[in-house]
Amino acid sequence: MVQSYDVVVVGGGLGGSQVARMVAQAGRSVALLSKVHPLRSHSVAAQGGIAASLQNLDSQDDWLTHAYDTIKGSDYLADHDAVEILTKLAPTVLRELEHLGVLFSRFPDGRIAQRAFGGHSYRRVCFAADKTGHAILHELFLSLGRLGVHIYDEWYVTTLVYEEGEVKGVVAFRLETGELAVFRAKAVVMATGGYGRVFNTTSNDFASTGDGLGLTWACGLPLQDMEFVQFHPTGLYPAGVLISEAVRGEGAYLINDLGERFMANYPISAQAMELAPRDITSRCIAYEIAAGRGIGGGPYVHLDLRHLGAELICERLPFAREEGLRLAGVDCITHPLPVRPTVHYSMGGIPTNTNGQVLDRSLVPVPGYFAVGECACVSVHGANRLGANSLLECVVFGKWVGEKVADYVQNRSLPSLAPDRYLASGQRQLESILQRRGKTRIAALRRELQEVTTNHCGIFRRAESLQGGLVKISKLKERYQRDLHIDDRGKVFNLELQQALELGNLLRVAEAILSSALYRCESRGAHFREDFPHRDDVNFLHHSLVWQGEGGIEIGQRPVDLSLRHIDPDRFAIKARTY
Ligand code: FUM
Repeated sequence: MVQSYDVVVVGGGLGGSQVARMVAQAGRSVALLSKVHPLRSHSVAAQGGIAASLQNLDSQDDWLTHAYDTIKGSDYLADHDAVEILTKLAPTVLRELEHLGVLFSRFPDGRIAQRAFGGHSYRRVCFAADKTGHAILHELFLSLGRLGVHIYDEWYVTTLVYEEGEVKGVVAFRLETGELAVFRAKAVVMATGGYGRVFNTTSNDFASTGDGLGLTWACGLPLQDMEFVQFHPTGLYPAGVLISEAVRGEGAYLINDLGERFMANYPISAQAMELAPRDITSRCIAYEIAAGRGIGGGPYVHLDLRHLGAELICERLPFAREEGLRLAGVDCITHPLPVRPTVHYSMGGIPTNTNGQVLDRSLVPVPGYFAVGECACVSVHGANRLGANSLLECVVFGKWVGEKVADYVQNRSLPSLAPDRYLASGQRQLESILQRRGKTRIAALRRELQEVTTNHCGIFRRAESLQGGLVKISKLKERYQRDLHIDDRGKVFNLELQQALELGNLLRVAEAILSSALYRCESRGAHFREDFPHRDDVNFLHHSLVWQGEGGIEIGQRPVDLSLRHIDPDRFAIKARTY
């Protein structure tokens, strides 16, 4: 089968759905391909909120302060031009979502409610209890139906068609039948989300396997800032699922085995405490655990909500309570929750300019190729993302990039490609996996990979450990090629086939993360090198690029945009980052 569209969007979460909505609204034809039903995209699990300086609680707030908080939170690695778009458009896009029907929580007077979140100077986080992603994604998805977006759910993309220096479409197969198809497009927008499953403990769902990054990497295109992996401080122990930052935003305490609010023992102001940014809070918890002050000397601390009271917990944090009951057997109304840091978010990704155009190794836009959301690196988060800025990035840049793509395809003709050649090579690719009769099961190899990345590239990193991890990954890659065992040769919902392809992407992403972490000989944001414990602005105030070159992994650099210094030189000067 060969299909042609103006635009093909890969991924149906908030970023992808928002792009598809904008493109369809502009009257262009658009297909949205997703390996899960769009409503099962990981955006649906986003909990605590979405930041915008609406001033519903704090009248002093404005977009520039939100921009400042975001840049300071990023440890000065975010691009100012991108942050300006994000924070300036936030209130408008928030109101558009409200008009679309998103059921935000409200104050008694009817205005959208806002709460505190880590690293934000004002209470600017809007929310729908602690199910904010669910509330937004459902409305966006409904709008896609009304606008006539062609949704191909449960289709898995195997190849990004990149030839003659431009992207011309994708090859995908339908999970239900195994049917292969070529989707030819004037523009492809990658919106596949994160890669949490590269690690052994993550808040991300099983589908977060970094597919868009792997597809881009396979074309020899670069990935940016891959060393910056966000650990969310409060993953429920032992499951690793998210206990929202909203819980601390509403006033919960972090407590060690001595019963101390231990954040007070670190160089953090009394005002910030549990609401220090995530990189700092995660390290503090990790230090407590390493010092034997985890609960009972174990690998977790307590998150205590009891003083918030049953009424607030049930109204504003119902999902956190449900998770505690269901996955840890703990009712947070009467007992503290066991928590520890869990891999949550990728600050790095596919490098783009502010219009979402993907950049090649020379920082030149690749014709026909765009990326948005967590899989992209635009970069608004730099070395550390502030909570509630991720949903915001998806909806703001989804809208912004969607509008740009709709314009872009007006002046581009459908690229020519030989579909039969791609159908044949796609078939060979799937057959070659189905025929593997080695001794290693997918689940076992994936588990080994997750142990390697977690043990060699966790919250704390060192050169020797990263080098050792890279050696192990290259051995896992060999076993993936030569020793994988697949039982199911069928075509109908062959999950082994899908998981084998996903594992290929996880291996690529892991290699990119460890290589970038080894390159960056400094500590900045979420990247903490024990052998280089300080930030080094002289040598590393730039984005890293990493790609698979002809002779192996290669590393490049991209400058950071510092344009907001023209607006407010004092505020946006690069300083020590303290809270
Ligand atoms: O903690 C949370 O609810 C997560 C929010 C975010 O990652 O932005």
